[in-house]
Amino acid sequence: MTNAPLLQMKGIAKRFGNMKALSGIDLELNPGDVLGLVGENGAGKSTLMKILSGAYARDEGTISVCGRVVDLDNPRDGSKAGIAIIYQELSLFPDFDAAENIFAGRELRRGNSGASPLDHPAMRAAASRILKGELGVDVPLDRPVRELSLSHRQMIEIAKAISSNADIIIMDEPTEALEEVERKQLFAIIKKLQQAGKGIIYVSHRIQELLGIVSRVMVLRDGNTVADLPVSELDVDKVVSAMIGGSLAKQFPPRVPARSEPSLDVRGLTKKGVFEDVTFSVAKGEILGITGLEGSGKSAVLRAIFGQRAFDTGSIHIEGKQARISDATDAIRQNVAFLPAERKTEGIFPEHSVGWNLSIANLGTLGKITLKPSRERDITKGYISKLGVKCDGPLADITSLSGGNQQKVMLARWLLTQPKVLMLEEPTRGVDVRAKAEVYALIQAAAKEGCAVVVVSADNAELLGLCHRVAVMFEGRITTVVDAATSKEETLALHSVRPPQGQPIQGGIHG
Ligand SMILES: Nc1ncnc2c1ncn2[C@@H]1O[C@H](COP(=O)(O)OP(=O)(O)OP(=O)(O)O)[C@@H](O)[C@H]1O
Ligand SMILES: [Mg+2]
Repeated sequence: MTNAPLLQMKGIAKRFGNMKALSGIDLELNPGDVLGLVGENGAGKSTLMKILSGAYARDEGTISVCGRVVDLDNPRDGSKAGIAIIYQELSLFPDFDAAENIFAGRELRRGNSGASPLDHPAMRAAASRILKGELGVDVPLDRPVRELSLSHRQMIEIAKAISSNADIIIMDEPTEALEEVERKQLFAIIKKLQQAGKGIIYVSHRIQELLGIVSRVMVLRDGNTVADLPVSELDVDKVVSAMIGGSLAKQFPPRVPARSEPSLDVRGLTKKGVFEDVTFSVAKGEILGITGLEGSGKSAVLRAIFGQRAFDTGSIHIEGKQARISDATDAIRQNVAFLPAERKTEGIFPEHSVGWNLSIANLGTLGKITLKPSRERDITKGYISKLGVKCDGPLADITSLSGGNQQKVMLARWLLTQPKVLMLEEPTRGVDVRAKAEVYALIQAAAKEGCAVVVVSADNAELLGLCHRVAVMFEGRITTVVDAATSKEETLALHSVRPPQGQPIQGGIHG
C-alpha cells in the first residue's frame, strides 16, 4: 500500500463522563505536511493528540500509519508506530538532566545488551549536538531540569521529540514558553523536518504565527471538525471565525489613564549576578510591562518582589510603606498577587477541585475560619462564567480542564484577592483568542479599581496593546522604558538584544 497516507485517523470519538470531547474526527497527514490544529480552549485538540500518541484511549474510530491499522494502547505503542509528541504540559523528569531526559527510555549504552552500562558522555554529546547544534540554544547540560528555565525545558522537550526519528511529530503549543529567537529557531527546524518528509501536527493559539509555518489548517469546535483547508485559502480572520463561530470584537480594551498616586515603588533592587539596581515605580491604575530575553532578570525581579527570591540590597514600597515580604502568606497579607508562568509546577494543586484552586489565595476575603461553602461557590461560579472556563463546575478536578482553562483559573485566583499590586507572568499563556480579550479586560478592570499591575510577557504585541509603559531588561538591568501607545514591537525586540546607545537609564523609571 505505497499510496496510503502517512497517518489516517477515522471517526475518532471520546467522552469524559457525559461530556463529548470528540465526535467522529477524521484526520489525514502525508509526508511533508505541516497540519495546524486550532480551536478554542477545551475544543479537543490535546485530547485528539493524546489519543494519537497512545496516552488516552479512544472510544471509537481507527488509526492507521502508512496504511496499517495500529493499536496505540499506551505511549510506548505510539513511539513504536513512529509517533513523537511534545505535550502541552511539559513531561520531563525534574531530577534528570537534559541528556537523561532526551534519551529516557532509549538510553545509549556502552555495549549492545540492555544490561550494558549507560554511556553518559555519548548521551551528553548527542544532547549538545541537538540542542546547541540544531536548535541553537545554550542549555546547561549538567543540571537537573527542575533548575532550568521554562523555555529551556521546552527546548529539551522539543529536542527529545525530534531526536527520536519519529515520522509523525506532534507539537502541542510548543511556542507558548519560548522567546522570539527560540521560536524562529523552532520554525527553521520544522521546515527541515518537513523537507525530510516527516508529517507534523502543530497546535497553537498564535494563529498569525501558525499560518506562517503550516501547509493546512484543521479547526475544531466543541469536539467537531468545522474546517480543514489549505493555508492558501485562509487568513487570521477566517480561522478565528471558524474557531469561535462568529467574529471577534477588539482584542485590547481602550487604555484608561493611570492615576498620579504611586503604588509600587521598587528602588535599587540588586541580586549580584542576577539583576542590578532595578528601580521603577507603578502608579495606581497603571499597567507596566516588562520584556527582555531569557536570563535578562525579569522573572527573577518579580519573584524577589513576591518574596520567593532573596536580594542583596534595595527596597520595595507599597503605597509609601516599606513592604517586607518573605513568603506567599506575607505577600497575600500585603495585597500583592503573583501569577507565575508555569502553572504545572508553580500554580496548580493537581489533587484539588477547580473551586479549591480558585479560592486558595483568598481564604482571608472568603472568611478564613467561617468559610461558607455556598459563598465560595457563588464567587467561583462568577469567575468561571466571566472567564468562560470550560468545566463541569467548581467541583470538577482541576486536572480535567484543558490547558488554557487551567490558566484562566490561576488568573482568577489572584484577581479574586483584589490585590493592590498584581504581578502577572505570561498571563495569556495557552489562552485562546476570545478568552485573551476577556483576560485583558479583567486586568484592565483591576487597574481601573486602582491596582498597580506589572505584566511580564514574551509577546511584545500583548505588552504594547495592554500596558501604559514597557520596560526592557537587558543583562539584569532596565535599559529602556517606552510609551506603549507610540512604540513598535520591533523596537522592543531590538532593545532586548542590544540596549540603545547613549546614556543608560539612571534611576529607572517613574510615572
Ligand atoms: N482527563 C480528563 N478528564 C475529564 N475531562 C477531560 C480530561 N481531559 C480533557 N477533558 C475535557 O475534554 C475537553 C477537551 O479538552 P482538551 O484538553 O482536548 O482541549 P484543548 O483543545 O487542548 O484546549 P486548550 O487550548 O485549552 O489546551 C475539555 O472540556 C476538557 O475539560
Ligand atoms: Mg490543549
